Amino acid sequence: MKKITTTVVSPEEMEKQEQYSLKVRTANASFASEHGRTPLAFVRTFGCQMNEHDSEKIAGMLEHMGYGFCGCFEDADLIVLNTCCVRENAEEKVFGHLGYLKGLKREKPWLTVAVCGCMTEQPHIVEEIGKKYRNVDLVFGTRNLHTLPELLFKTLDEKKRVYEPSHFGNEVAEGVPIRREGSIQAWVTIMYGCDNYCTYCIVPYVRGHERSRRPSDILAEIKKLCDEGYSEITLLGQNVNSYGKDLPKPTDFADLLRLICENTTIPRIRFMTSHPKDISDRLIGVMAEYPQICNQLHLPVQSGSTELLKRMNRHYTREQYLETVRKVREKNPGISLTTDIIVGFPGETDENFEDTLSLVEAVRFDQAYTFIYSRREGTPAAKYPDQVPQDTVKERFDSLLKLQNGISKEINDGYLGKTLEVLCEGVSKTNLAKFTGRTEGNKIVNFTSDTDVTGKFVNVKIENVQTFFLEGTRV
Ligand code: SAH
Ligand code: SF4
Ligand code: F3S
Repeated sequence: MKKITTTVVSPEEMEKQEQYSLKVRTANASFASEHGRTPLAFVRTFGCQMNEHDSEKIAGMLEHMGYGFCGCFEDADLIVLNTCCVRENAEEKVFGHLGYLKGLKREKPWLTVAVCGCMTEQPHIVEEIGKKYRNVDLVFGTRNLHTLPELLFKTLDEKKRVYEPSHFGNEVAEGVPIRREGSIQAWVTIMYGCDNYCTYCIVPYVRGHERSRRPSDILAEIKKLCDEGYSEITLLGQNVNSYGKDLPKPTDFADLLRLICENTTIPRIRFMTSHPKDISDRLIGVMAEYPQICNQLHLPVQSGSTELLKRMNRHYTREQYLETVRKVREKNPGISLTTDIIVGFPGETDENFEDTLSLVEAVRFDQAYTFIYSRREGTPAAKYPDQVPQDTVKERFDSLLKLQNGISKEINDGYLGKTLEVLCEGVSKTNLAKFTGRTEGNKIVNFTSDTDVTGKFVNVKIENVQTFFLEGTRV
């Protein structure tokens, strides 16, 4: 296969975007003097961490263009829906919102509605939006995010609909402003796209092929986060284990982690997602070597059946997965393991499903994110015959959930009476009398403390455990 090398978007292009940004800023300043207030933007995100982080970049660019922010559709002058299409229900949610926004736009004709993200990388969706949702003014994709200033300027200035899904390219943009949601934990994208083409998955079609950021750019971003007082970073990529193959000077993920550990002072490092087929002994070794790399791993298995894994195009067998888990645990004792599992992949037999249950029992994951298979137009599995009947899928899904919840609770029971180190993220949203934070193993801990310890590492004695979180008192 021909090697594709990733390049960085040219400074000239970024400068052009800066000029458009200033033009929108000027327009927003006139809006402010006319209306006596800054125009407000609301960015609503669907989907995974990658999208959450893209929204932070969208918000960063909007802030630079002079927008303020609000927390609901009704107060906004500009609405951005950053969409997901990994499962059908994600798309349905977005269409539901678009329907609601039709009414809102009638009330507020000056409202600008933009739709971006994974959904808009599918031509049939863009066509549907174009035909049925005339209230959408701007459409852009996942790979032309950095051109938002230009696209928004054209939408506002020419007062016409701008539909500009991304073009496939080998570029990554650097220097896009970021408005981060948190001040303790930060997302850092290390690579974009995916080359794996699991047969059920739409992501490679909507995010494009793998493009890695240069180590120097990643290091500079993390150093800045350290200076700003962040305590935890999560490195993001659809498959971080294949990081760096496309760089002019190839570097692998284990090398990148080592570079980050040796050259920055960030106290906690997490990463996701790791594809089991690509997890190297060197990576497992680096994880064990550096205490700042959290003793936690998200390793999506998808199925416990080798036959199904083959049809999913996952490139590992049940046995290879179990062997990887054994090696990871041998080098990293006590590691917290989580996974993703799909139930009801086309042709999944009772036997195949039993294999998934027995793998879950054998591994004893701390948590599993379980999904009902969703047929995605354009993926190979969408054409597979023998799609599993819905009631069978539901039954299997419930029994898997029950098994995993029991295991999660049993594992958490083991923490009763123990004292764990927690990085406090602030006051708990569900219980305002408590603080909340996470352990190195990514367990949520809600706890009481006499003083505000937000942003600090504290010790918490665990006094109560639930399936999805622990509770205790700061000691
Ligand atoms: N790149 C990551 C995650 C991608 S999407 C990885 O490979 O692990 C997150 C999860 O959504 C996947 O792990 C998978 O379990 C699930 N998923 C993807 N496509 C799906 C589909 N068509 N139906 C149901 N679940 C799906
Ligand atoms: Fe989808 Fe597979 Fe890529 Fe993950 S590795 S994003 S599941 S194609
Ligand atoms: Fe993420 Fe959904 Fe796109 S899971 S990569 S936002 S399709």
